[in-house]
Amino acid sequence: MIDREQEKRIVARRALELVEGIELLGLGSGTTVATFVEELARSGLERGLTVIPSSSQIEEEARRHGLKIADPGQRRPELTIDGADEVDPELNLLKGGGGALVREKILAANSDYYVIIADQSKVVARLCSRRPLPVEILPYGHEWTRELIEGSLNSRSVLRMSGDRIFTSDNGNYILDVECQPLDDPESVEKALKLYPGVVEVGIFTGLADEVLVAFGEEVRRFVS
Ligand code: 5RP
Repeated sequence: MIDREQEKRIVARRALELVEGIELLGLGSGTTVATFVEELARSGLERGLTVIPSSSQIEEEARRHGLKIADPGQRRPELTIDGADEVDPELNLLKGGGGALVREKILAANSDYYVIIADQSKVVARLCSRRPLPVEILPYGHEWTRELIEGSLNSRSVLRMSGDRIFTSDNGNYILDVECQPLDDPESVEKALKLYPGVVEVGIFTGLADEVLVAFGEEVRRFVS
């Protein structure tokens, strides 16, 4: 019986095929991408490759494995490999479980090709079926921003904590986890929430994934937009 951790490794290995010939690679965040970094370092393909990490978590992993690191803002990555919390049939994504959604979205939008790798537990019919919706907000007036978001979605939310402290993202912001109903129209929710003052980014990624690789046991299925 193949478990989720094994599926992460199987899909991470499969994604290595996409890295051949790539010079500048964006890295998303989370445990699946950390497994990918490990496999990349093991493969020898990392020679001649530079990575742009999306978070302190994955930067640490990349450094630990001796990968060459570049800052964003110069050349755009030819490819970015990322994970997701949920993927729907239109390849819309729910992201932000690790709190790196802002930088992940910046990388996704500025990469020539954006690929998601996932185990089968991430596949859903509609986003927010299993997980709350992460929204990164500014600390300033965060209670007001929270009220606006809850009113807009008619939903309760939880301010993400880390132990007994408020969780802060790599950008120094807070994350709200909004307990919304499964989304029929994720794009309009993404756009509507983005308009509220205090909202930095929404963990709904529509129209960004070029390809999604999902491990179902030993089989990797490929979905292309
Ligand atoms: C971090 C993310 C991650 O990609 C997402 O949470 C998936 O993580 P994991 O691979 O650990 O399940 O969006 O902000």
